[in-house]
Amino acid sequence: MTASLEKKEWILLAEQLDLLSKKSGTAPFPNWVSIARDTRDAARSAEVDGVHAGCRSCHEQYKELWSQRMRGTADDPPSAPLEDAGVDGAAPRGLPR
Ligand code: HEC
Repeated sequence: MTASLEKKEWILLAEQLDLLSKKSGTAPFPNWVSIARDTRDAARSAEVDGVHAGCRSCHEQYKELWSQRMRGTADDPPSAPLEDAGVDGAAPRGLPR
């Protein structure tokens, strides 16, 4: 989505966010769907600030938890700070493969 955001491909970005809003699964992320939808709506209206706020809001709330559930374990917690999410195409985190 970073690429769509940078290119201001609002329609594509809105589609991606719509898909994302359906990916919460059974995970305990109560605001997931609403954040994704709000961000999607902001993208549809090309509201840059709203979109940024949506990306940030979801990452702040859920990124760490998600990584722990989907990838890491208690012995292998994600360590990088949340602010790094998607900034300047940052290299993938150093999680062991
Ligand atoms: C509904 C929640 C949600 C929204 C909204 C959201 N993200 Fe994310 N994003 C996540 C989660 C969860 C991860 C961590 C996924 C993982 O680690 O596998 C993530 C990871 C990322 C990453 C990878 C970062 C890394 O270090 O691996 C990028 C880039 C990213 N998001 C960009 C965006 C952009 C750009 C937007 C807004 C247009 C956005 N995201 C909106 C939940 C969201």
